[in-house]
Amino acid sequence: MIDVLLGLQWGDEGKGKIVDYLAANYDIIARFQGGPNAGHTLYVNGVKMVLHTIPSGIFHSHCTNLIGNGVVIDPITLQKEISAVSQLQKDAVDRLYISRHAHLIIPTHRALDAASEAAKGKEKIGSTLKGIGPTYMDKTGRNGLRVGDILSDNFKEKYETLKQKHLDILKHYDTVAEWEEWEAPFFEAIEQMKQLNIINAVYWIQEQLQQGKRILAEGAQGSMLDVEFGTYPFVTSSNTISAGACIGLGVAPSKIGKVYGITKAYCTRVGSGPFPTELHDETGDMLRKAGAEFGATTGRPRRCGWIDLVALKYTVMLSGVTQLIITKADVLDTFHPVKAATAYRIHKEETKELPFDISSVDIEPIYSEFEGWEASMSEAKNYEQLPQSFVQYCDFLESYLETKIAYISNGTGRDQLIIKPH
Ligand code: GDP
Ligand code: IMO
Ligand code: MG
Repeated sequence: MIDVLLGLQWGDEGKGKIVDYLAANYDIIARFQGGPNAGHTLYVNGVKMVLHTIPSGIFHSHCTNLIGNGVVIDPITLQKEISAVSQLQKDAVDRLYISRHAHLIIPTHRALDAASEAAKGKEKIGSTLKGIGPTYMDKTGRNGLRVGDILSDNFKEKYETLKQKHLDILKHYDTVAEWEEWEAPFFEAIEQMKQLNIINAVYWIQEQLQQGKRILAEGAQGSMLDVEFGTYPFVTSSNTISAGACIGLGVAPSKIGKVYGITKAYCTRVGSGPFPTELHDETGDMLRKAGAEFGATTGRPRRCGWIDLVALKYTVMLSGVTQLIITKADVLDTFHPVKAATAYRIHKEETKELPFDISSVDIEPIYSEFEGWEASMSEAKNYEQLPQSFVQYCDFLESYLETKIAYISNGTGRDQLIIKPH
């Protein structure tokens, strides 16, 4: 069976830290979508690492790490990441496998991303500008380049054809980023990529399953950024929900076991788009400060607000979450009261459903209030040591979401994770 772990909000829920913890129980960690727009933070013996393309099991010597077919890879970013990781983990490259089917981000994809965002003006998505949208567009438009193509004799030709297509499109934009300077590093990185373990991952993963290997699929971004079910058009360009793991790895739905869904104890979003529970006041600023809410990939300040249970119920439903994980609970230590949105008021009507036109309609969240715990919980080692009012908050989340909490994260460290007894 393959277990899946994903973010239930707008990304940055703490997936990197949790995968790094859970990796102790798995043989293989596999990324199934997204690309270098992701920034997954984990700490290796106190050293902070941010992973963009490499799965978060890389710092466990017993784990094989697969970059699946659903991922889009920027060879330049991947090379940089491999160098950084290899300094801390000598055998990293030996345990890194890449699907031949994964698509490549080429320099002009990044230029297209930037040009498209600039042309949108105020309506911009707030993309990370890593070329994600244009690369997935070429994939579905049947123009893309795949990792396996780098091993063919006419790769350069294929590259030139795609580049030319992009240059024709770029002529229609007023502002075009300097992409030429990325071309030489791109081809250098391609040469280095040829030395990596490039495999036909579809058959490989089946073999691993037959051998009884334990596999964890690591999601990127968050469910509310899913291209199909998120706050469209303010989304990313891949399927971030659990179903994405089947497509992004080539495994059947019947092979999916547990689905871990991660949510912060509050909520953040980076980039533009609707965020019903966003706080534009001092409390929002306090959340940003207490949670160090600045993007791991772009450094942008993250927008902050209370947990949104309407949105969470929707994303728990979409992915069939079997185990909830609450992260950054310690960030709320000093807040009183703590709030959770339990319904929306739209055009004076109360609803518990996400509206289709969430990007254009006015939403007033209706909140339930909870007593703050006003105690430090980062030292807690087990559930019994957690403050009583936090326990009540968890009980409420479980009953509203009709899903059990499996773990509570109370700090950035690998060992700061509490198992919730049932
Ligand atoms: P990801 O994209 O989901 O992997 O999350 P990011 O790495 O972008 O952002 C999560 C941030 O929160 C990182 O800086 C983590 O080190 C940090 N973090 C994760 N879990 C906790 C927690 O329980 N408490 C605190 N205070 N920080 C956490
Ligand atoms: P991790 O895996 C948070 C957001 C961007 C933007 C939108 C589209 O670290 O949780 P894109 O670059 O995909 O075209 O940007 O999606 N976004 C993320 N926000 N965490 C991420 O990844 C994100 N990846 C993309 O900010 O609003
Ligand atoms: Mg992140």
